[in-house]
Amino acid sequence: MIQAELMTEIRKWKKESNTFIFAHNYTLPEVQDIADFTGDSLELSIKAKEVKAEKIIFCGVSFMAETAKILSPESKVLHPVPAAGCAMADMATAEKIRQYREKNPDTVIVAYVNTTAAVKAEVDICCTSANAEKIVASIPEDKKILFLPDRNLGRNVMNSLGRKMDLWAGYCPVHDNIRAEMLDEARRLHPQAAVMVHPECAEDVVKNAEYAMSTGAMLRFLPKATEKEFIVGTEEGILHRMRKENPDKIFHPLLPQIVCPDMKKITLEDVLKSLKEEVYEVKLTVEMMDKARKCIENMLAVK
Ligand code: 13P
Ligand code: SF4
Repeated sequence: MIQAELMTEIRKWKKESNTFIFAHNYTLPEVQDIADFTGDSLELSIKAKEVKAEKIIFCGVSFMAETAKILSPESKVLHPVPAAGCAMADMATAEKIRQYREKNPDTVIVAYVNTTAAVKAEVDICCTSANAEKIVASIPEDKKILFLPDRNLGRNVMNSLGRKMDLWAGYCPVHDNIRAEMLDEARRLHPQAAVMVHPECAEDVVKNAEYAMSTGAMLRFLPKATEKEFIVGTEEGILHRMRKENPDKIFHPLLPQIVCPDMKKITLEDVLKSLKEEVYEVKLTVEMMDKARKCIENMLAVK
């Protein structure tokens, strides 16, 4: 089936089955276009809590589909390709966190949303790249903090708040590969452009960039930006919305390919199969969901 036909079929099935489709900003452009809502991790979590659809199809990586299920437990949540995981999320395990907790019972454990439900069930509060500073700042000054799993986001938050934290040794392979010298090279090619990176990049990269923001914050900032040209140091899927929503601006990827292979695993064919066959349902026990929900609700309660 050609793309236009697939999209028509998906729209028809979606309407008939009262299904709401979510997509992360890094998914394939055509998947973003078919979604009812596209956003960053925080926006997707907030929306998942509001949506009252019979079925949800989540196009993104598995921890995001799990978060949608935890926040919308009455809906049937489908993840079209369960093998689409997040390499960083797999770097923290519930068992390791329990061991840390035993040795450090008074430490507040902050988990980036890029974690499995089993890990969320063990921690005190969650954060995303859009609110990490606000969440850490809400923890009383006299408390010790462990930040996991992203050592880069944790370090960048420490630098902006001037607050010490224990950092887990995890990282995003896609963003951790970006080097500060790559920004200098891109600036030589595009001297008028401002550099925008994701806070999952290493601290010297973030310090060398004009802007470091979550994908959602980038998209909110761009229409108000005075600069006309940007070098984008994050997963290339974001360029689709950047260009669509800011036709007067120019965007250059920092490197020819910054790709999260897992974010690209879900195709329109998978979405249609998911709609027609109701696959693959995200299944979590009620006990796990109740435990994991607490840290997300603690995050959403921080004003
Ligand atoms: P955002 O919350 O900025 O969308 O980032 C999620 C993510 O996985 C980045 O690699
Ligand atoms: Fe995980 Fe990195 Fe892919 Fe984001 S870009 S989903 S952090 S592997």
